[in-house]
Amino acid sequence: MLTPMTVGVDQISAIRADFPALRRLRNGKPPIYFNNSCMSLRPQPVIDAITRYYAEFPTCGGGRAEGTKRLHNWFQDELRSHEVYAREAVCELLGAASADEIVWTRNTTEALNIVAHGLALEPGDEVVGCEREHNSNLVPWLEVERALRRRAGDPGLVVRRTFDLAEDQSFDIEKALAAITPNTKVLALGHASNLDGTLIADAELKRLADRIHEVGGLFVLDAAQSVPHRPVDVQALGIDFLAFSIHKMCGPTGMGALYGRMSLLASLDPWVVGGDTVADTWLDRVEYKRPPGRFEGGLQHYAGIVGTGAAIDYVTKHVGYDTIRAQELALNQRMTERIAPLQDENFWLLGPEDPERRGGVITMTSPHGALINAIEKTGDEEANIMVRKGMFCGNAYLHKRFDGVGSAANNLRASAYFYNTLEECDVFCDVVERVVKNPFDYFDDE
Ligand SMILES: Cc1ncc(COP(=O)(O)O)c(C=O)c1O
Repeated sequence: MLTPMTVGVDQISAIRADFPALRRLRNGKPPIYFNNSCMSLRPQPVIDAITRYYAEFPTCGGGRAEGTKRLHNWFQDELRSHEVYAREAVCELLGAASADEIVWTRNTTEALNIVAHGLALEPGDEVVGCEREHNSNLVPWLEVERALRRRAGDPGLVVRRTFDLAEDQSFDIEKALAAITPNTKVLALGHASNLDGTLIADAELKRLADRIHEVGGLFVLDAAQSVPHRPVDVQALGIDFLAFSIHKMCGPTGMGALYGRMSLLASLDPWVVGGDTVADTWLDRVEYKRPPGRFEGGLQHYAGIVGTGAAIDYVTKHVGYDTIRAQELALNQRMTERIAPLQDENFWLLGPEDPERRGGVITMTSPHGALINAIEKTGDEEANIMVRKGMFCGNAYLHKRFDGVGSAANNLRASAYFYNTLEECDVFCDVVERVVKNPFDYFDDE
């Protein structure tokens, strides 16, 4: 097994001191937070930035950059400078050409909906994804399919096509390339899996971008599980649209962003329209703002936008992607070393066994829901461990793969981030080991 670059214990302790939630105690013990793929914790600088908005300049923003009639005033000027800073931070983070290519959204889900509903696909167009897309990168396209079926009067019209993963459930570039046809208008892929952490490598993304562009299609990347953990450069990789959530990278909840190449954003139909999206209106027509304003309907999550700038600074400048990668790998190596040997026909890990291929994610599954419940409950009651149980919005894939062996819903995921420690992994692994080796001691009576 690979020896990771190690991150000093002192460095992690200093980082942990920034997170007030980690100082809480229940039954004399701190939380062990392993639900980072869902939502990360927030450090004090982000909390301070959010609070500053409400305490110091709690006003509405927007407007002026478009030459519309919002007032010039003290609070708005301050908010405006924070908003510009945050949008430029996202632009720099993603290697976009201009901050105007960044649209604020509530989350990845909303960003993907803006793309799916805005592209004006026609009957006969195809959207390609893999068998394991998150519901947020599946359902919007199924809705587009439904609308096109209605329009074409053809209830059997297929718009979304799916390709399979490799044998070990990791991404298979050849299968993905083979799925792209001259009718493919959109390749919409998850960059990293929230189920098992496996990732599409940069060289593979580039090949996919080249191929989809060759047939005149667009590359949409669901980067919800990658941008919080690794650098992603949209221009170098040839990505046309990218969606991610700030709340998975130390930012305020209900904050996300959509990147779109400007020429594409300019031709994308806005999805949520009304106040703040328009340059002007008349009783019978509307003229929309140029991007990104036309996609940001209504008053925005200004506290979230201010907190976004602070979150990106914290993650990329204060901690840094190298530290994040090294710490996640060390944590996952520890968990894998201890949990992988417990596997049998009643308990196994999802995805490849090599932790280097799974980021900070380790997911265990069992045909016996009681076993998974017992791990979660024991971890919570004994050690304040927070993990995620269920289908992780990967229902379609889990049904396909596990229905019939009775375990589609019986999964438990521990997802680590840079502030987690090896000691926390050990506490979690102790619980897993005890429950898996002695399940009947832990099953509820009822
Ligand atoms: C791969 C992936 N895509 C999309 C999403 C949706 O993110 P959000 O709930 O922030 O919209 C998630 C959330 O876990 C995810 O893991």
